[in-house]
Amino acid sequence: MTEAARRYPPYDRHVFICMNERPADNPRGDCVRKGAPQVLERFKVLVETLKLKPAIRAQKCGCLDTCESGVSVVVYPEAVWYRNVTVADVDEIVDSHLVRGVPVERLKLHKAQAG
Ligand code: FES
Repeated sequence: MTEAARRYPPYDRHVFICMNERPADNPRGDCVRKGAPQVLERFKVLVETLKLKPAIRAQKCGCLDTCESGVSVVVYPEAVWYRNVTVADVDEIVDSHLVRGVPVERLKLHKAQAG
């Protein structure tokens, strides 16, 4: 049994990064074409190098249905949704939100922007 599995809930913060991919001609686009693989990799590198495991987990997920605002990222348990995330934004999300518990306001997806 892993250390995370012995805890309940297993993570203090759980980050999901959309890794959905569609055909190139699909009008909705997708997060992979907007840089999701690089965003996911940067989250994973920081979680590892800052020794945030097992309290924090970052993982890929399927479409979060906020495709027009991708790369889409959501952090639980706060249910904070981030929009248009680039690899350049990841360090700030990790430092501010994941480590210090302060969501990054400038990147938050607000209800009127979802679509
Ligand atoms: S393709 Fe990423 S939210 Fe839909």
